[in-house]
Amino acid sequence: MKTILQFAQAARERRGLVMVTAYDALMARLVAASAADAILVGDSLAMVAHGFPSTIHATVEMMAMHVAAVRRGASDMLVVADLPFLAVRRGIAAATDAAGTLMQAGATAVKLEGVAGHADVIAHLVQSGIPVMGHLGLTPQTVHQLGGHRLQGRSVAEAERIRAEARELEARGAFAMVLECIPAALAATITAERAIPTIGIGAGAGTAGQVLVLSDLLGLDPRFQPRFARRYLEGDSLVREAIDRFARDVRAAEFPTGAEVLA
Ligand code: KIV
Repeated sequence: MKTILQFAQAARERRGLVMVTAYDALMARLVAASAADAILVGDSLAMVAHGFPSTIHATVEMMAMHVAAVRRGASDMLVVADLPFLAVRRGIAAATDAAGTLMQAGATAVKLEGVAGHADVIAHLVQSGIPVMGHLGLTPQTVHQLGGHRLQGRSVAEAERIRAEARELEARGAFAMVLECIPAALAATITAERAIPTIGIGAGAGTAGQVLVLSDLLGLDPRFQPRFARRYLEGDSLVREAIDRFARDVRAAEFPTGAEVLA
């Protein structure tokens, strides 16, 4: 899938939107050859690819480098790029510059967290021709204010706030929204109320689509196994076993041999 119009059409046809993260050209090529609809160059790359403790460490420059690599690996795919920490909080001009950098690096759309205090930025980006995906519920860039990565929208007041934010996002022109770590019933309510597609992560089965971080889906990090993320591969043990076999072959003088030895 290449465009936000195709994304909206697939949602209208209730095809079940599928988005996964990728941060480099190799993984982007694999995702592009799969049945996924869109790639998210998420600021989770600060943690997964750069080893930082939170997404707060992602910068526009870091994001742009990864977006460019992903675009080289997936030339025909809808690529959504996260606007990193504070990029939308320094005023419209700075946010437009940051979004422009990500679009020029190859993004089809940008994703940004929250609405309160930057609804005008969302409207300005949309009116500037930049498709915007929202992100509500657990917004990892505000992890310190939220007191950790925990379920959001449990109380009536919190649920009402998130519903109002979803309404505001749609009114400001967002083409879709991620709903992260909120009760399934709340996510289903928002999905029914809003015309734009909802993409869930830890938000139950009632959203228009689902997004997962690729390393969670592939089971690559045994230290991080969120309950809501299904492991479709035991990637950590498979990769480790392959490297162990390589090491064993080298030490037993069984690699390289035959055609692997260049004459
Ligand atoms: O950064 C990211 O990977 C994300 C997903 C968790 C939705 O925002």
